[in-house]
Amino acid sequence: MHVRYIYAYKEVSAIHDVKITGLSFAYKNDNRLILKDINIEVAAGSFVALLGQSGCGKSTFLRLLAGLETSTTGTILLGDRPVNGASLDKGMVFQDYGLFPWMTAGENIMLALKQRFSQQDKKKLKQLALDTLNAVGLDDSVYHKLPKELSGGMKQRCAIAQAFSIDPPILLMDEPFGALDAVTRARLQDLVLKLWSQENPKKTVFFVTHDVDEALLLANRIIVFGQSPSNIIYECSIAEDQRPTRETQFDNPEIMKLRNKLIFQINKDVAARIS
Ligand SMILES: Nc1ncnc2c1ncn2[C@@H]1O[C@H](COP(=O)(O)OP(=O)(O)OP(=O)(O)O)[C@@H](O)[C@H]1O
Ligand SMILES: [Mg+2]
Repeated sequence: MHVRYIYAYKEVSAIHDVKITGLSFAYKNDNRLILKDINIEVAAGSFVALLGQSGCGKSTFLRLLAGLETSTTGTILLGDRPVNGASLDKGMVFQDYGLFPWMTAGENIMLALKQRFSQQDKKKLKQLALDTLNAVGLDDSVYHKLPKELSGGMKQRCAIAQAFSIDPPILLMDEPFGALDAVTRARLQDLVLKLWSQENPKKTVFFVTHDVDEALLLANRIIVFGQSPSNIIYECSIAEDQRPTRETQFDNPEIMKLRNKLIFQINKDVAARIS
């Protein structure tokens, strides 16, 4: 896949640890507690996969990290600063792509770039938008296409391009590959891993998925949320030298043990809900 790295005139963003303390959350229109007493510290540059059954609050958790919702109790610190509203230091890839349907793919990316690099010359930003589209394997013609003219996989690539183009130190990805066929999904997993791993310093990524194997392939930290009101019911880390590859993923006994453990935890949680 064609990935070249681009940002000759990019500013270097500070990357911070994330510290979440006593985080609870209920939507204002519904007093039901969705998240309850979440405590976690994530080192800067981690790739964190979030697992948990449907409706347990994974998207809500990302929206809190993004500053799109405000915690009911508790704090989220990026470094020593509390999250306070949405900002360009947090890029989000939404479950439904998050592209404005009335703008072309290029205009969607330009909108983010103009906010992020407001001092930059428009021509340079357009080149950056095209370079970013190329980096996710899309050619220049996609710049002029509306989202409805693109396949699901192409839309997903645009959303990833948009999120990476503003170079946020924190990247929040909500089931970004949920709707894709297995081959496209594998290619985009490789792409995201490549974009993340070749940066120095690395972005801190929070990546929601329902797929345990995807979590094991991409993440160096895995967190499982339990049923609502949701708390962290299991978590583990994968050391860099234990990281599986697509080829070795199912041959590594340690990774298989972890896989079984994760599936067991999720099934136990689902069973508790049903019974
Ligand atoms: N805007 C909202 N107002 C009120 N309740 C909401 C809102 N958005 C989500 N919820 C509720 O919050 C709970 C958690 O939803 P959320 O979307 O975070 O789950 P999820 O873990 O991302 O699920 P999925 O895996 O299906 O995407 C659900 O019960 C949902 O109905
Ligand atoms: Mg969700």
